[in-house]
Amino acid sequence: GVNKEKVNVLVVGLDNSGKTTIIERLKLASTKKAQAPVEVTPTVGFNVDTFSKGSLNFTVFDMSGAGRYRSLWEQYYKDCQAIIYVIDTSDKLRVCVAKDELDLMLKHQELKRVPLLFFANKMDIPSALTPVECAQLLKLDDITDKPWQIVPSNALSGEGLQKGVDWLAEFIQ
Ligand code: GTP
Ligand code: MG
Repeated sequence: GVNKEKVNVLVVGLDNSGKTTIIERLKLASTKKAQAPVEVTPTVGFNVDTFSKGSLNFTVFDMSGAGRYRSLWEQYYKDCQAIIYVIDTSDKLRVCVAKDELDLMLKHQELKRVPLLFFANKMDIPSALTPVECAQLLKLDDITDKPWQIVPSNALSGEGLQKGVDWLAEFIQ
């Protein structure tokens, strides 16, 4: 509806972590096509999407996670009211890269107090890191200047996504 509050959400994380799949699944969740499979291709640059949840209209900036585009992320920090950081829990080799990118992001003062939701995505893959392991490897306990939460998700089935968005909605100001 027209009276809904509009919030900008920035979605970041390494390439192939599942950002676009998560957004497509969240868009489908509010339609009759909720169970439809989601087809995605790697994002080039970024895409802007919208979906609504409760009294909020989310405008989502779906950034590419590819190395050559990661420098775009920071251009949107000043205009976002929430951040979703997607982690591919099956990509153990690149958790350290995800941590480096996270650390760069956390240095930005514009993001002070901006709620930060981590999706520990691809939990359906048996060898995946657990959310606790992710939190330890990314040293999430060191984040003390903003509310944060880590939620396990499977973007293919949609499991965990609503829980994450509900948490985010609670902390958006
Ligand atoms: P970039 O746009 O390149 O930054 O990637 P992205 O983060 O948007 O990833 P994308 O949504 O394109 O998904 C990458 C691949 O991971 C696709 O083949 C998805 O189907 C797959 N994928 C996404 N989420 C999950 C998940 O929860 N489990 C599994 N098994 N695969 C997933
Ligand atoms: Mg994408």
